[in-house]
Amino acid sequence: MTKLAIIGGTGLTQLEGLAITRREQLSTPYGAPSAEFITGEFNHQSVVFLARHGNPHTIAPHKINYRANIWGLKQLGVEDIIAVAAVGGITEAMIPAHIAIPDQIIDYTYSRKHTFFEDANYPVTHIDFTFPYTPKLRNALIAAAVHAGIKISQHGTYGCTQGPRLESIAEIKRMERDGCDLVGMTGMPEAALAKELGMNYASISVIANWAAGKTDGEITMAEIEQNLHAGMANIAQLLQAFIARTVI
Ligand code: HPA
Repeated sequence: MTKLAIIGGTGLTQLEGLAITRREQLSTPYGAPSAEFITGEFNHQSVVFLARHGNPHTIAPHKINYRANIWGLKQLGVEDIIAVAAVGGITEAMIPAHIAIPDQIIDYTYSRKHTFFEDANYPVTHIDFTFPYTPKLRNALIAAAVHAGIKISQHGTYGCTQGPRLESIAEIKRMERDGCDLVGMTGMPEAALAKELGMNYASISVIANWAAGKTDGEITMAEIEQNLHAGMANIAQLLQAFIARTVI
């Protein structure tokens, strides 16, 4: 099996069940990563875990050093990344507390350091981004979910907003017209940076709330926390199933 990393998002600052063997504070040419890289055994497989927002959860989505995080994982020999992320649900199937494995992405972020290929060390490189999420990694996640009887949405377009605020109703309407099913704040540039370094990348998106305007009234943090808590039980089970079954 290739070396696997799990990047934990909001609601997943620590990986339950990870028998920790090593903690590394890496420095990179791009600055400091979000947290220590934690290596351990998860279901008898070696896994590297990184808390995307730091531990404790203090780094806002637009302040995350995505380049340092991905560079650090590459440094550790990681080839496959499973990125867990909290999202809002836009389209009908994207029900709070459920899980989606997105297959497409639209980037609405701005002013983030979004590429490794911008200085004299690298020739200008235009990576292919037809499939932003690695098909074989997505398929392995989907197969694990089906095998474990965990209900998931097998497709979805993830729209990445700048945050940290949530969206207006009009913004969500526009995103829906664009074809977005999910809205989150951390999917980009993470997915593109992983691809720039030739790593496999897939996302497990846990739906924390209906996006703005999809229910009456405002979105509350209490609702987000409650749905994330419910969804995280399935995430843990999905990760166990994925690791138990996967030879990728
Ligand atoms: N919008 C953006 N990001 C999110 C949301 C949302 O509604 N919920 C969780 N992350």
